[in-house]
Amino acid sequence: MTQERERRAVFGEAATQYEAARPGYPAQLVADVIAFAGGGPYVEVGAGTGKATTAFAASGEPITCVEPDARMAEVLGGKVAGYPEVSIQVSTFESWLPGRPYRLLYSAQAWHWVDPDRRWDLAHAALAPGGAVALFWNAFGVADSALHAELSEVDRRCGADAGYAPHTLLAEELTRDLGEDDQQDWEFNKIADDSRFSDLQLRRYHGQLTYSTAGYVDLLTSISAYRILEPDRREAALAGIAEVLDSRGGCISLTLVTDLTLTRRV
Ligand SMILES: C[S@@+](CC[C@H](N)C(=O)[O-])C[C@H]1O[C@@H](n2cnc3c(N)ncnc32)[C@H](O)[C@@H]1O
Repeated sequence: MTQERERRAVFGEAATQYEAARPGYPAQLVADVIAFAGGGPYVEVGAGTGKATTAFAASGEPITCVEPDARMAEVLGGKVAGYPEVSIQVSTFESWLPGRPYRLLYSAQAWHWVDPDRRWDLAHAALAPGGAVALFWNAFGVADSALHAELSEVDRRCGADAGYAPHTLLAEELTRDLGEDDQQDWEFNKIADDSRFSDLQLRRYHGQLTYSTAGYVDLLTSISAYRILEPDRREAALAGIAEVLDSRGGCISLTLVTDLTLTRRV
């Protein structure tokens, strides 16, 4: 099993912090995806604790949530208890068998955990002709370059610098609109060349948020780059980051962008 395969299974260890600290997704993004799909049913891949689910459930369309981690699915179950149209399948997307053709497949922060050699075949198989795909991720950036440097130094010292953290990027790297570089990311060209999909487009949504020191430690606790560390290294990294933030007023302000990839099964 590769490290990537292990990393995708770590979220349930910190389901409470995940639910408490991770941001949701812009209402405009949800409205745009629902409009692009033009109707249900929906399948959500890697639903986690339901950070995206309730916003989509408000549409009233049936949703099948596919989530392999029982601890994440338990939190999700509590959140969607008031939505009878939402069902949960505790399974990887690779092992799940779609029982009906879906009009929308969406995935928030999870598509990269699905087997890259199979995910587009699986999406194609799950969708009705004309069915939509919506994949989206949040990315954070720190505006204060001195703070960015101090937090990066803590990560480097504790060996937490091998993966993504919300303070890995400077905010200025996220203010631009999406362009050629982003098309190289996220398999843009691969899907552009796949004649089974059309209407490919990228959109970016901008926001801001502020965390207290404790909230930011919860956020990092839910992130795979910290979860895969040995416990003593993780504790050292989180303590070091808390110390930096406490010395700078006890909070951190972040730029938040949400990048959306849309496409459609032919
Ligand atoms: C970063 S979390 C995102 C959760 C949620 N969608 C959200 O927006 O907060 C990634 C989720 O993908 C799930 N996951 C990992 N591998 C998966 C796979 N092969 N198929 C489906 N979900 C998977 C994890 O269990 C985890 O809940």
